[in-house]
Amino acid sequence: MTKQRLLFLGPPGAGKGTQAQQLAARQGLLHLSTGDLLRAEVAAGTPLGQEAQAVMARGELVSDGLVLAIVRSRLEQQAASLNRGEPGPRGWLLDGFPRNLAQAEALEALLNELNQPIELVVLMELDDGVLMQRLLSRGRDDDNTAVIQHRLEVYRQQTAPLIAHYRQQNLLEPVAAEGSVDEVAARIESLLQ
Ligand code: AP5
Repeated sequence: MTKQRLLFLGPPGAGKGTQAQQLAARQGLLHLSTGDLLRAEVAAGTPLGQEAQAVMARGELVSDGLVLAIVRSRLEQQAASLNRGEPGPRGWLLDGFPRNLAQAEALEALLNELNQPIELVVLMELDDGVLMQRLLSRGRDDDNTAVIQHRLEVYRQQTAPLIAHYRQQNLLEPVAAEGSVDEVAARIESLLQ
């Protein structure tokens, strides 16, 4: 059966969001991007958004408790809806979460409660030069050279340890993230069987 509980890992600009959105639509999965959810809170001016805004602008990680609460509520809602037999996505794709070991451990505890283990972790790999180019031509609020460099440092220090963590669990599949969006999508799709 096609894998349907997926996690996307990789540096900023690797294309996690682009690929996650398309794959989730094709496979009928719930797409949870903590970056998108946080930006929506910022845009709506909620207390949570106000707390996150300055941290995101600096390219640092928002507090674990805050992102965990967001992910927990979405996954619990989906599980409850499935238990009630309602129509809707059966699987999920987490994009940009977890970002450190504490988040990964909290996620594992939550998924144990829900009896929904991760089936695949896709590691999107891309050279720094290419990702810098991609991000600078996108131009989001946090896409300037200094902040991108800081996001990369944060990735290396806090998120990259998750690579060994998921490799140890035999869940990790590296994917070359260069080339066209369709080429990368085909590489990822081939891992779902
Ligand atoms: P987040 O939104 O997760 O940003 P990120 O990890 O830095 O990732 P990006 O969105 O920059 O890159 P991506 O890999 O998704 O690439 P994309 O598809 O967009 O996080 C932002 C901030 O929120 C964090 O810094 C932090 O403050 C906070 N945050 C989020 N999650 C958190 C968490 N769990 N804990 C704590 N804090 C958290 O593509 C990039 C560009 O490249 C686009 O323009 C795209 O069109 C283009 N592109 C994509 N694929 C290709 C291709 N194949 N060829 C050419 N161009 C391409």
